Amino acid sequence: MRIGVLASGSGSNLQAILDACASRAIPAQVAVVICNVADAKALQRAEAARVPALLLPHQKVVSREEYDRQVVTALQKHSVDVVCLAGFMRLITPVLLGAYKDRILNIHPSLLPAFPGLHAVRQALAAGVRVSGCTVHVVDEGTDTGPILIQAAVPVLEGDTEETLAARILLQEHRCYPRAVALWAAGRVRIESGRVRVQGAAGRADRTIASPELSD
Ligand code: GRF
Repeated sequence: MRIGVLASGSGSNLQAILDACASRAIPAQVAVVICNVADAKALQRAEAARVPALLLPHQKVVSREEYDRQVVTALQKHSVDVVCLAGFMRLITPVLLGAYKDRILNIHPSLLPAFPGLHAVRQALAAGVRVSGCTVHVVDEGTDTGPILIQAAVPVLEGDTEETLAARILLQEHRCYPRAVALWAAGRVRIESGRVRVQGAAGRADRTIASPELSD
């Protein structure tokens, strides 16, 4: 299986996926990394892993649809089977969704359906929740609404700031995303009636993670 990763920033989730492919925890390879930001660390991480890294700036592209056409062309050129959005800070259009229907994954720093969209960690703190976390889901036409594949729970601690909570959630993201992609690569993920079904044993254990602080 060939993975295309779309990223805009630090690319730590990209790194987790690259590492899991290198160790064969994910039985697949990252075929291309596409980035819309020139100085994104994600590009350097791709180059360091000797994966084709493509900078596709969006500023001069006339529309979101035209941008996504360019993305799809690049993904197809690299024979990508599944797309992972990893901190890709752009709304995607039906052009990309249609070309990779039910084959686009995203990671979001909240327990969806709570706190979709921007600033999820800030939203969680403002709501006063005691537990937040992260979600890997299949992308549909809504904002962070698609079928849920894996979630990890992370407690909100006394005195947490957006930075401290986001950092603990990110640690769990690095566990969830490779695990989700590994299930996908093993052909164990089915989408039925808008829900993810994971085939084979231990479905529940495969799909939920609790951070260590929750067992204190
Ligand atoms: C993560 O928090 C992810 O949930 C969100 O964007 C951030 C990306 O971080 N979608 P990184 O670029 O993978 O380090």
